[in-house]
Amino acid sequence: MKIDILTLFPEMFDGFKSESIIKRAIDLGKVTINTCNFRDFSEDKHKKVDDTPYGGGAGMVLKCQPIFDALKSVKKENSKVILLSPQGVPYNQKMAYELSKEEHLILVCGHYEGFDERIKSVCDEEISIGDYVLTGGELPAMVITDSVVRLIPGVIDEESHLNDSFNNNLLDYPTYTKPRDYNGMKVPEVLLSGDHEKIKKWREEKQLEITKEKRPDLIKPRFVLKKEGLKKSGRRIKIDDVKDIKVTIIKDNKNLSYKVTKEEKLVAITIFNPKELKGYKLKGKSKDGGITKILIVKKAFAFKVALKNIRKKIDVLANRLNTALFEIDEDKTRKVLAEAEMLKQMIINTYQDYIGKERLDGIIKNINQLVSEFVRSKTLHSN
Ligand SMILES: C[S@@+](CC[C@H](N)C(=O)[O-])C[C@H]1O[C@@H](n2cnc3c(N)ncnc32)[C@H](O)[C@@H]1O
Repeated sequence: MKIDILTLFPEMFDGFKSESIIKRAIDLGKVTINTCNFRDFSEDKHKKVDDTPYGGGAGMVLKCQPIFDALKSVKKENSKVILLSPQGVPYNQKMAYELSKEEHLILVCGHYEGFDERIKSVCDEEISIGDYVLTGGELPAMVITDSVVRLIPGVIDEESHLNDSFNNNLLDYPTYTKPRDYNGMKVPEVLLSGDHEKIKKWREEKQLEITKEKRPDLIKPRFVLKKEGLKKSGRRIKIDDVKDIKVTIIKDNKNLSYKVTKEEKLVAITIFNPKELKGYKLKGKSKDGGITKILIVKKAFAFKVALKNIRKKIDVLANRLNTALFEIDEDKTRKVLAEAEMLKQMIINTYQDYIGKERLDGIIKNINQLVSEFVRSKTLHSN
């Protein structure tokens, strides 16, 4: 993997690159991390990269030209460009896994008051590392690089990150090391028993207990699955492309949980109130032939989430169309029109089941209107 970081403060990365796992990954040739100071690309005679905001207001805004040109110098066919911004999608472990499969990441670090909005048009994603504002994008770039690099095969033991928190939407189990008794605080007996089955079960139970207590949001029902597919404890079920998974029903006082395993390995644990069981469906999601996760969600919730996701994607398309309106390069116009087509297909394939035919038709009509308005304005411009 290659990571290029566009920054005004490349020296900040010197220590980051020369220590611990990141250094090891670089030495092993698993990753190349370059910094690119976009000030070097400024066409201003004083190498200025920022200016005052149109409309007034505090702070300085990063200009398009140095960043566009710096990006052009590092961007390739296979690059994924990420803009670091507190307004981006909140970063999580799932995104780290996805990014670890990319060949080339470009991380764009902002500073001062932020970026000229038009810079977003040349970025594929906008990511935030949390709901707080930092001085610059350098620490977020390090956070993303660190979390991604440790997931590149061969950098650390796969087993150690498979057990990390957030896999299967669960927090990690408690761990202990020597001595057995520290100032009267004892290691749980089960961990000293040598019985691997018992230890595995204890750890799974603890993961569930800790997640329920500390981060119930991680295991709240999320997807719509076929209720008919559920069978009683221990029986095997077959749904769509999900083969040979075992669903065990766990009951406690308030909740009903489904523990889903494949080949004895824990795939997911889902929890919900039995009274709400009606309207839930179960469905597997398979990638490269293996199950990645199984989630259970209430229909009404899935409907809301689907609409929210679609709205976000249409906003992104509208922004791209607006930018392309002033673009003279015909290739770029064609590209944005192709994006609109792809978006329609994606919405039909992904969301039809969740939002129903009527809603879907309305949404497709809206996208068609956006595109026709764009084509009409574009024709007026060029005349
Ligand atoms: C002071 S911030 C600008 C904040 C901007 N005015 C706003 O409120 O959205 C400067 C830069 O730091 C980076 N940054 C700050 N907080 C961040 C966060 N939570 N996640 C990712 N990047 C962040 C971004 O690159 C941002 O452009």
